[in-house]
Order: sequence, then C-alpha cells, then structure tokens
Amino acid sequence: MMKTTILAIESSCDETAAAVIKNGQHIKSNVVASQIELHRRYGGVFPEVASRQHILAIDTVIRDALAQAETDFSTLDAVAVTRGPGLAGSLLVGVNAAKGIAMAQNLPLIGVNHLEGHLYSNWLATDDAAPEIVFPVLVLIVSGGHTEIVLMRGHGDYRILGRTIDDAAGEAFDKVARLLGLGYPGGPAIQRAAAGGDARAFDLPRAKTKRPYDFSFSGLKTAVLRLVQRYSKNLQRPSDVAQNAPDASNLPVADIAASVQWAIVDALVQKTRAAADAFGVQEILLAGGVSANGALRQEMSARAGCPVRFPPLSLCTDNAAMIGAAAHWRYLRGDFSALEMDVIPNLRLK
Ligand code: KG4
Ligand code: ZN
Repeated sequence: MMKTTILAIESSCDETAAAVIKNGQHIKSNVVASQIELHRRYGGVFPEVASRQHILAIDTVIRDALAQAETDFSTLDAVAVTRGPGLAGSLLVGVNAAKGIAMAQNLPLIGVNHLEGHLYSNWLATDDAAPEIVFPVLVLIVSGGHTEIVLMRGHGDYRILGRTIDDAAGEAFDKVARLLGLGYPGGPAIQRAAAGGDARAFDLPRAKTKRPYDFSFSGLKTAVLRLVQRYSKNLQRPSDVAQNAPDASNLPVADIAASVQWAIVDALVQKTRAAADAFGVQEILLAGGVSANGALRQEMSARAGCPVRFPPLSLCTDNAAMIGAAAHWRYLRGDFSALEMDVIPNLRLK
C-alpha cells in the first residue's frame, strides 16, 4: 500500500481545523479551534461571524497541526480540504488556505466532500489499532445538516439509499433544544436532560415517508412546540418560545427531552436496520455529530443484527483528521483537484 502524509483542512461550519494524517489512518496531529462559545449567544451558527473567525484562526491552526505532528511542508504528499457541503464563506477560507499551500509548496490539492470525511472517521486508528473494515458496509451519516443512509461497496463507492426529506437529525435535536430553552448545541444538551427523564412520557409522532429509507423529522419539532405551548399558556408563536425560556417550573423538560431523543433514535435505528438487512452488509458504521449520542450508539448496537462501529467521541463532530483519512483514498486513485477548484455549498455525496 502506498504511503501518504497528508495535511488536511476543514472549515465548513463552525470549527477551524487542521490535521496531519499518515496512510489515511494514523493521526499525527488533529487541531480543532471551536467557535461554539462565540455562536452560543446567537443560539446557532452565525455565518458572517463564522467566516471571520475562520480567517482569524486558520493560519495558527495549520501551523499548530504541523508543529504537533513534528513536521513541516517538506514531508507532505498532498494538501486536502473540505470543498462542500457547508457555509460558502466558511468553506472559502479553508479552500483558499489549501490552494495557497498547494501552490507555494508545489503539492497536489485534494478537494474532499465533508460527508465523505465524516464517514472515513471510522477508518482512523486509535491506540495504534487500525480498523479493518470489510465491504459492503452501510453508513448512517447523522450530522447537523445531513441524515443519509449510504451503501458503500468499496472506497469512494457511495450509493445513497435514503436521506431526510426535511430536517436533519442534528437539526431536530438543535431545534427542540431551543424550544425547551436548553441552548446550543442542542444534541449534547438534550442527551444530558434526557438522562433524568422518561422516554415513554410522551408518544411523539414517527413520520411516514414515501421511500423506505428516507427520514422526516420536522413533525417532531411541531409536536414539541405544541407540548411547550400547552405547558406555557402565554407563549403562542415559535418566536416567542425561542426568545423566552419556557417556565422551568411546570415544563417537564427531562421527560420531553427523553421522549424526543427516543423518537429520533428509534427512527434512525429502524430504517438503518431495515436497509442493512435488505442489502446484506458486513457491518454498520455511524458517522457525524449525532453519532456521539449515547442512546443511538446503544440502541443501534442492540438492534442492528450485525456489528456496529462508531468513531471515538472526539472524531464524531467536525474535525480535519477525517478529511485527511478520506483524502488518502482519493490520493491512491489519483483523484486530484485543479487549483481552480471552487467551493460547493450544496455538494452531494456520490
Ligand atoms: O457533524 P457535526 O459536528 O457538524 C455538521 O456537519 O453538521 O454535527 C453537529 C450536530 C449538531 O446538530 C449537534 O447538536 C449534534 O451534531 N450532536 C449531537 C450530540 N453531539 C453533537 N446530537 C445528539 N447527541 C449528541 N451527544
Ligand atoms: Zn460535519
């Protein structure tokens, strides 16, 4: 197998990240500068603030990634970067930095799909043990912007079996958390609140979709809004609810959080299991921010009917190590990008 050392850059949303990855598996360094604190007061990612912060952070993050890997540009085989999907202004900062390095150091440039990155986080080694994954596998990508069931029959071979027709799973967590006054990001907050609640307290709707492996989560948000309204009579419109933290004294936040988490997890597990059975895969891989969810990990492992693999918690949310892992396989295929490469904010996996 050809050896590679790749510098990877990720700036698609609210993390400025750079990593040095060897052979698509070994993490020499993985630096993530999070903007979460900055966006918390807006209750979500504020695009202009995000791109400005990327500009401020990116040089230092790249320098730190090289320093922590105890290397410099001269040892690199390529520079990889997320080109989409994501926020245009944020993507541009990473892509321009990568192009500058590629040009100045005469290195090949590799544009990577952010979702492909998430999926390849499963190939990264931890504690020196490199995973050996046998195809075909089914990947459930669950992040703030995406929910997709992907059949993977080889490296770079993606077939989308289903996706969300409205909100992404992470988006559902984030929106419900806002309705409950739990803050941003919503997923971890819901998970924490749910720990003290009864998942059977409220019977929340499971959406029917036309295609068997598609998802729909927007009905959940409406159902929770109704619940919140029932408990806090003075709040009528969604904007009121968002601006006024609901009266904590009578809103059963823990029970609602637990019921919502259960509704999301149950839908994800059911459809993933059905697809895994239908396509006879070797194992199921989870990827993306929501794959950090404890209930999802537990429930999927219990009900999958085949082995389930998920990335370590630190690699579930956005990072550049996963971009370096995906880039390795593109490098082996000779799949390089021109220096004219553009960002593609709505780039699809294919
Ligand atoms: O993959 P990611 O870091 O960014 C995107 O590419 O979107 O995913 C972020 C999403 C957010 O919606 C966040 O609420 C969710 O992942 N998330 C979680 C958990 N940790 C992060 N959702 C549920 N449970 C968690 N523990
Ligand atoms: Zn992501």
